[in-house]
Amino acid sequence: MALFIKEVRCEYLINPIGISTLKPRFSWIIDSDRNGTKQTAYQIVFSKDETFSSIFYDTGKINSYNSVHVEYNGPKLCEQQRYYYRIRIWDNYGNISDYSDINFFEVGIIDNNRWIADWIAVEDKDNNPMCPYFRKEFTLQKDIKKAVIYVSALGLYELFLNGKRVGDYYFTPGWTSYKKRIQYQTYDVTSLIKEGKNVLGSILGNGWFKGYLTWEEKNNIYGDKLALILQLHIYYQDGSIDILKTDNSWKYNHGPIISSELYHGEVYDANFELVDWNIENYDDTNWKNAVVLNHSKSILVGQENIPAKKMQEIKPIKLIITPKNERVIDFGQNMVGFVRFKVKGNKGDKVILRHAEVLDKEGNFYLDNIRKAKQTIEYTLKGEEEEIFEPHFTYQGFRYVNVLEYPGEIDLDNFTGVVIYSGMQTTGEFECSDEDINRLQQNIVWSQKGNFVDVPTDCPQRDERLGWTGDAQVFIRTACFNMDVALFFKKWLNDLSADQLEEGGIPFVIPDAIGNNKTPTEWGEPHSAAAWGDAATICPWTIYNCYADERILESQYQSMKKWVEYIRHQGSNEFLWNTGFQFGDWLALDAKEGSYTGATPMDFIATAFYAYSTWILFNSAKVLGLEEDYNEYKRLYENIVREFRKEFVSPNGRLVSNTQTAHVLTLMFNLLEEKHINRNVEELVKLIETNNYHLTTGFVGTPYLCHVLTKYGRNDIALKLLLKKDCPSWLYQITKGATTIWEHWDGIKEDGSFWSADMNSFNHYAYGAIGEWMYNVIGGLNLIEPGYKKFSIKPYFEYFSCVKLRYKSLYGDIVVNWERNEKSISLKVKVPVNTQAEIILDNIKKETLKDIKIDEIIDIVQENSMYKILVGSGNYTFEFEK
Ligand code: BGC
Repeated sequence: MALFIKEVRCEYLINPIGISTLKPRFSWIIDSDRNGTKQTAYQIVFSKDETFSSIFYDTGKINSYNSVHVEYNGPKLCEQQRYYYRIRIWDNYGNISDYSDINFFEVGIIDNNRWIADWIAVEDKDNNPMCPYFRKEFTLQKDIKKAVIYVSALGLYELFLNGKRVGDYYFTPGWTSYKKRIQYQTYDVTSLIKEGKNVLGSILGNGWFKGYLTWEEKNNIYGDKLALILQLHIYYQDGSIDILKTDNSWKYNHGPIISSELYHGEVYDANFELVDWNIENYDDTNWKNAVVLNHSKSILVGQENIPAKKMQEIKPIKLIITPKNERVIDFGQNMVGFVRFKVKGNKGDKVILRHAEVLDKEGNFYLDNIRKAKQTIEYTLKGEEEEIFEPHFTYQGFRYVNVLEYPGEIDLDNFTGVVIYSGMQTTGEFECSDEDINRLQQNIVWSQKGNFVDVPTDCPQRDERLGWTGDAQVFIRTACFNMDVALFFKKWLNDLSADQLEEGGIPFVIPDAIGNNKTPTEWGEPHSAAAWGDAATICPWTIYNCYADERILESQYQSMKKWVEYIRHQGSNEFLWNTGFQFGDWLALDAKEGSYTGATPMDFIATAFYAYSTWILFNSAKVLGLEEDYNEYKRLYENIVREFRKEFVSPNGRLVSNTQTAHVLTLMFNLLEEKHINRNVEELVKLIETNNYHLTTGFVGTPYLCHVLTKYGRNDIALKLLLKKDCPSWLYQITKGATTIWEHWDGIKEDGSFWSADMNSFNHYAYGAIGEWMYNVIGGLNLIEPGYKKFSIKPYFEYFSCVKLRYKSLYGDIVVNWERNEKSISLKVKVPVNTQAEIILDNIKKETLKDIKIDEIIDIVQENSMYKILVGSGNYTFEFEK
């Protein structure tokens, strides 16, 4: 009998170091060859050494079904200490697994008094756009057992030890609400350090801290000086410890990076390279001593998400000479990252590359929609052998690269697209018999990659790239299917709480680069709009549901409550939100000419979201056992719904606004009286039908449109919308060659012309929110209990001839594969150990349902032509006719 533990994680990570909790949680995936396997007990043993010679804590056998987020409950853990652990389990068939492989975790610096290093910077007179290089040579005289670096920066850093890059992260320390929180990273550098001479080196770049941000070309938003802070903890074999830290004995100089900006790109002159600057015996006598910068250390926090990394490489597909005679490399995919190139030429020759997303109607390189972001790489050759270049502190959003200068012929082999995004595991795959839908799924995933670069951004190319709250809440549910985004959102939500206004308002963008730069905007105060600020409730609620993570609800709860209270205090009616600036149904097609906002009234949308956020709040209070709050906010919710009906629904059930979005919101958020539901479903369907099955919805209505149709039995209409190929529709952009999701339904019009350049991103994930519906309805996978402890599989066996869905939950892979031929359907499902699935087969001929092994299923309920089959873990195949 095989029962074993396949994958063990601590706080979502395999063998993390530098975690920021003394109460870590453990999750493990179980494998078994017997269907219906459940864990009945577990045991975790902790030791301070790998050999388990001295056990630190043993839980003993704990009777529990929990195999996800099992909280550490032993003696107090110490900071900066590694703990090894292994797990075994018991199952409902009386089996005991072997112990898992040995895993470890290490707590980082939680008590900020442990930061004894100084922030170091260049002298004021050397504070210029060039990237400073810092170095420190030091000698170690004893046998080293282990070495760990804790490091952060004001700006971005790259770190080297003895000439080797430390870690594979990009854009560290990441973007947070810098005035309140700056992450540090932890690296185990035991394999890079040695007895004798060592050299630490670091390059700093402007990044989000000091570089240009927002369309207003503002820099120095968080500060005007780059700085580095680092502690290297050296543990010797003899038990002693040394700490090497940043201080004014470090030296600095400027080198080849003339400038580097996230939006604008990098200027690099290889003739200024500081050859061997980061290894021993380099002569740094003409380098200057760093100065100590007085900056808070109490704002340092451990790394919370997985930083951006090089995740993929792609090769160009062709070289195009445009009608304007531009040399343009086509990478075949709108991607985010940078180009690595090889070049051979003379000293002083240049390579200049500009990056753009699309070619215009005539086939020329098109830059207007990139607005003020320069997206340009300029490299000056030193003229020796082959030179290879990658920029350091910048990224570009592009499919096409205009080669303005390059010595010699352009050989495509010399160019590689390096795709960079936050290091998230892929968790979802969706494929079906329709190639256009498959391309749509790919485009959604590519837009997620391109816009999950440390924070969830609206777009990755123009002078924006900001953590727009609305876009993030619209897309989060789809994002959770495609990749493991729990930590990614955990970090971002901590910034959302940090940047939340005293009175509860939520900035439009998180981290709040707009409010922080203190410029009045066209909207007045840049915070708190419906469907944008509601990210405060929707995002934690979604993460809680997808990952059964109660801690995220716990840590966000006060922020969620403050947001709802903020709305409650707007205007004179506690139960309506009818004041202040709103984005409304952003980019909806029922907008008036020249406006970005759709026809659905602002107060209608705002009050609907107010109700929804309050619903989430009282349900969260319930999960957290906060009875008083539960009662209070349930009452508030009921009052909002009552007031909503009074204000926006006639006694006969007619809405004050007859738009698709108005119907969608009321139906999605359950705002109507039972007796008025059908009328509104019919009206929504009529609006779609009379518009030749086209949607008119924008950011607010679109994510829920197909869900509402499904919820009220109109999958047929939802599918029609999805399969439409003329504009506006999801597939229209596919017919126009899109490889990512567009900001506008008609970013490129039928005649090949563009939507106005001021707001026309071709990599904007909001409308990619349809991905959730594809997983839920075409694949049929839906959550019943948080974290997929229990889920349903109810595929929609229409139109497609096959669908393949895989989703890696915290319990392991869920698989739904179905195939249809003219007569019968075959459905194969995989249910992870320790979970249950309800398989719902609707509208089937019961006599054709073959091969159900009754002893393998828990329960089967038949209602007319619908079967509900409850199963435990395992692989199941069902064959039947419709
Ligand atoms: C962004 C959007 C964002 C919007 C606010 C735009 O500039 O790109 O996606 O949500 O502003 O309405």
